[in-house]
Parts: sequence; C-alpha cells; structure tokens
Amino acid sequence: MASTDEQSTHGELATIGLTGLAVMGQNLARNIARNGYPIVVHNRTKATTDAFLEGLEGDDPLSSADSLEDLVARLEKPRKIILMVKAGDPVDAVLDDLLPLLDRGDIVIDGGNSFFGHTERRQAKCSEQGINFLGVGISGGEEGALNGPSIMPGGDRDAYAQVEEILTTISAHVDGEPCCRYIGAGGAGHYVKMVHNGIEYADIQLIVESYDLMRHVLGRSASELAEVFSTWNEGDLESFLIEITSIVLAKQDPTTGSALVDVILDQAEQKGTGRWTAQDALELGVPSPSMTSAVYARSLSALKEKRERAAGELSGPDPTAAADESGESDRLVDDIRQALYASKVVAYAEGFDQLATASRTNDWNLDLGGLATIWRGGCIIRARFLNRIRDSYEGDSDGNSVDVDSLLTLPYFRDEIASAQDAWRRAVTAGIQAGVPLPAFSSALAYYDGYRQARGPANLIQGLRDYFGAHTYHRTDREGAFHINWSQGGDEVEPGKKLKEAAGH
Ligand code: 6PG
Repeated sequence: MASTDEQSTHGELATIGLTGLAVMGQNLARNIARNGYPIVVHNRTKATTDAFLEGLEGDDPLSSADSLEDLVARLEKPRKIILMVKAGDPVDAVLDDLLPLLDRGDIVIDGGNSFFGHTERRQAKCSEQGINFLGVGISGGEEGALNGPSIMPGGDRDAYAQVEEILTTISAHVDGEPCCRYIGAGGAGHYVKMVHNGIEYADIQLIVESYDLMRHVLGRSASELAEVFSTWNEGDLESFLIEITSIVLAKQDPTTGSALVDVILDQAEQKGTGRWTAQDALELGVPSPSMTSAVYARSLSALKEKRERAAGELSGPDPTAAADESGESDRLVDDIRQALYASKVVAYAEGFDQLATASRTNDWNLDLGGLATIWRGGCIIRARFLNRIRDSYEGDSDGNSVDVDSLLTLPYFRDEIASAQDAWRRAVTAGIQAGVPLPAFSSALAYYDGYRQARGPANLIQGLRDYFGAHTYHRTDREGAFHINWSQGGDEVEPGKKLKEAAGH
C-alpha cells in the first residue's frame, strides 16, 4: 500500500506534486512514484483520489492532498506541480486557484495537450509573479504514462533543469537514451507535441485508407487484414500504430461474435491537436496536404447522416472492378504497403518542414534529429522509421549538420520513394477507379509530384491574378514586379511594363 497522508503530515515533503487524476494523471503519478520520487497527488473530486489510493499496491512514495492548499503545503521548495487536467479552460481555472498559493521560483508543469499559444499566455501571466510555467507535451496514452512516455518539455531552460532528472527518468528509453529532451523556449514543447499529433492523424488516416482499399477492392475480411498488418509490422512499416491496427482488426465483438471493427460506428472524434496543426501550417504557409486531409477525413466521417442519405443517391464505380484490372490481389496488397510507406514519408516530410519553419519563426532552435530521437519510444507515432529520420539529421561523418530542404530529398528517403513510387501510383489509381476515397494517399502523392516540379503551373495563377486584380507578376527573365493593362476582352492595350516604371508616369 502506498504511504498515506500521515507521512506528509509528519514533516516529509514531497519532491513533486500532481493535480488531475484522470487516467493519464494517475498513471503518470504511479510512474513517478515507482521511480522513487516522492509525489503528492490531488484531484478536484476527493472520491477520485480516494479510489486511486485504494487501488495502489506496494510502498511507492505516493501520498495525497485534500485541497490545492494542502498540496502546496506538502511540497519542498521550489515547488514543482504537474497539471494533468483537460486542455483549455480547466487549465486556466486550476492555474487561477494555484497561483495565489505559490512563491517566486515555483514551477508549474502543464502536461496536457494544451494549445501552444495558450501556454505562452500562461507563461507570461505566471512570470509576472516570478513563477515558471513549463508546457510539456506527453505522448503515449495511458500505457505510456505508466511505463514510459515520450516527453517534450518547453519553457524556461533553467526551470526545466530542475525537473529534468525526474522527466528523463520516467520517460521511455530506446537504446539507453531517454525519450525526453528539452525542446525550446515558450510554447515549443506543446508546439512539438501538436505536430506529433498532426503526424499521428496522417499516420492513422493512411492506415485506414489501406484498410478501406483492401476491404472494398479485394473483399478482405477484418481477420484477414489483421494478418496483412501483422506481416507489414515485420518490415519497414514496423510501428506502434501498425501493430495495434492488427490487434484491433483481429478483435472479436463479444456481443455479436463478429469482428469488432465491423460493429464500430464510422465516425471519428477529434480533440483539436490535428486541427491546430493544420491551422498553424496554413498560418506559416507550409504545405501540409496529407496531414490536413486527415483532419478533413475526420470531419467527413462526422457527417454520418448526410453520408447515409447521399449513399443512396450518388453513383460510383463497382469497387471490385479495379481488382480485376490490377490483376493479382497479392500484388495490390503489396502496392498498398508501398503506397503507405511512401505516403508516410511525405507526411513526416510535411511535419518536419512545419517544425523547421516554426522553429525559425519563433527562434526555438529546434533540434529536428533530437525530436526524431525522442519519438522513437513511448509515443503514439513510435516507429522503426524514426531511426532513419534521426540518422538523416545527424549530419555527415565529421558531425557537420546536413542542410535539409525536405526529408524527401535526403538520399535514403529519396531512394525509398523512387523504388516505391510505381506501386504507390498503382494503389492510388486502384482507389480512384474503385471509387474508394484515398485523401491522404493521393494528397501525399500530389505533394510529391508538386515538390519535384521545377516549374509548376503557378505562372498561370499569376497571369490570372494580374488580369482580374492588377496584382502584378514576376518574370523568369527579369527582376521586378510587372503588370499588363489588360482590356476587358483580354487584349493587351499597352505592352507589359515593369511596375515601378509604369507607376513613375
Ligand atoms: C498521445 C496522443 C494523445 C491523444 C490524442 C488523441 O500522443 O498520447 O496523441 O495525446 O490520444 O490527442 O487526439 P484526438 O482525440 O484528437 O484523436
């Protein structure tokens, strides 16, 4: 049994406190205590705290507090308090209650999925009182929180240094390296966690498109597909999400005896991190079509009633026709595997491009190879693949960092996509022919094809903008902004002039 309140009342102060005992908070507290750090926990509803303590075994140094005042009184100074409450207003509410109780130098650690802009607002508010506020992304779900999550801490570096030992100790470890590293100032930690989730959305969408294609075009059952994903998990696609896809597909529904996925409603919820990633990509001007298409796909999934009505009215091809044309079904399965891999590379390329751009914009100096390193274990997107990204950012043999335009142009990924692209195109074609929607696969392919075009079609966009709005255009052969005085009919009434010269008249 864990030590009880008496221990603290006898004068022993805990190293760290935690408020918010939903499952993530409970498991994080157990992880901290199991690693030998005395922790005092609190929850707004005392019954939850009591039930949590009741269920504990062993003699890990975990005690409870009845109120925030009590929690604060039981901590050594400077106090370190983890908030594990729902992102949004609840974080502000707890902070409002907590701040009057704290002293200068105390550290508040928000371990939820908070929006990074809110984290920066809270940091400013706390700093007025000399309190440090760290925005710490924690990934890995319930199991990760208990046995070792991936941790992305952001905020004041000196404040982080005071909790570094605890956070690195409780994090997952891969090849002896902790999956926790200081990310950067301000909201950098929560930003990186947000993009992690955006990539998670894309990863999941690519998996469900693979599933959709195989079940509709090839008529494979859930249990057959469980086998396919299990096999894929032995190769380059090896990852937590592919592994659990196989487990979920194999699961029988205890009530009906059919495959569980076949009785789960096809409407996916979302809490916001994917949408924020897409919104911020738009703000930064970073193309992020695969990731964003995954957010749209969830929104479309939510339109269940409209989709059901439309299904009876909108025509489409016979989904099995593509199978006949693409020949051997095993070949299509392997094409889909390669399409999944290539699209995944694109989704990560988008995500890392967004991280690099946000890093420059916010002066975060993000270590992108370091992010790949801490995502190798503990988090939802953990994958063998991340070793390759980490290696790609590691630099040359002399330790010089490589100048990375995009993951797509790094030799390893460039060659992988080159060998996968024929299969990728066949898989996307099969989906289009069969009328199976592949928003992430096809967006990723379009991104790839767009990225490798030295001269795309935006010249025509510029021409049109100059016609209807005198927005000017730039030329391939001369510097400067140009404009043509288009007539209504589209005839040029005066030769195109460099705008400055034209304006000078
Ligand atoms: C993690 C997860 C976790 C959560 C997602 C789910 O890294 O542990 O990302 O944070 O499962 O936020 O997000 P949605 O509800 O939006 O799918």
